[in-house]
Amino acid sequence: MFRKDLLSIVRASPSDDEGLSLIEGTEEDGWILHGALHSPESGETFPVRNGYLDLLRRRTGADNIANLTNFLPGAGRGYEPLWRVRSLTLLTGESFPNERELGIISDLARVERGGRYLDLGCSAGLYTRSIATDLGDGGEVLGIDISPSMLGEAARRIRKSRAGRASLARADAEDLPFADESFSGAVCGGSLNEFGDASRVLRETRRVLEPGGRLAIMGILRATTPNGRRLQRFLSTGGIKFFDPDEIRSMLTHAGFDPDPLQVHGAVFFAGATRR
Ligand SMILES: C[S@@+](CC[C@H](N)C(=O)[O-])C[C@H]1O[C@@H](n2cnc3c(N)ncnc32)[C@H](O)[C@@H]1O
Repeated sequence: MFRKDLLSIVRASPSDDEGLSLIEGTEEDGWILHGALHSPESGETFPVRNGYLDLLRRRTGADNIANLTNFLPGAGRGYEPLWRVRSLTLLTGESFPNERELGIISDLARVERGGRYLDLGCSAGLYTRSIATDLGDGGEVLGIDISPSMLGEAARRIRKSRAGRASLARADAEDLPFADESFSGAVCGGSLNEFGDASRVLRETRRVLEPGGRLAIMGILRATTPNGRRLQRFLSTGGIKFFDPDEIRSMLTHAGFDPDPLQVHGAVFFAGATRR
């Protein structure tokens, strides 16, 4: 499902001046349930099916092995129950249920009714659903990911939770298909470690945020113990990257953000930043 009022900010190609229009399909109460969207400038069409708008079509968008594992059938289904419900408790060594994490992200992003928010690398939609629930019918949230398996599961969970105005798109965070200054804020849970080019994603995020817009990131720090470093060296062969606090601050600053002081819990960081 995709909210019709988001079509005006979608740019099939960066040089496009116009958004997409619906050429065929089913709509109900401002939602496109399924159908085909058309770019008047490039002439391309993009399907809305399986609960999301597919802006990548035949492109995978994946540029490392870690990304490709998210394409496996079942990856989406297992992600939250097998990993996400306990991930931060394991990584921080503290009691860290999802509610605590979601509270921190919502505070850092300063989610406010009436806003429009982007979830970068949304997987099964944990942050997307939480923001949609906070906003109710007063705002929009759009989760993007490259993995059809994750997006299918995110769509299923959004339908089941009856979260507010949550839309999903298959899109590459390194080339955000949205007009400049389209969003009030953006969130990113764990995905910075998986993007092929994290600095590029941050620059793109700055472009699509309004001046003063907020970015909230949860991610994993570079390990400081020999065992942790060995494990991370192994994971790095699949394309996952780990960051030092200084590197995170530097990437944010260079991308055009003013970073808040970093919050660190064990191996996990929370970064808030304001778009200059
Ligand atoms: C660690 S998971 C995200 C978890 C999710 N944000 C959460 O909080 O539960 C990383 C996700 O980023 C997606 N991803 C990787 N590269 C991407 C890209 N270039 N653009 C969009 N999504 C990407 C992967 O498919 C995967 O679902």
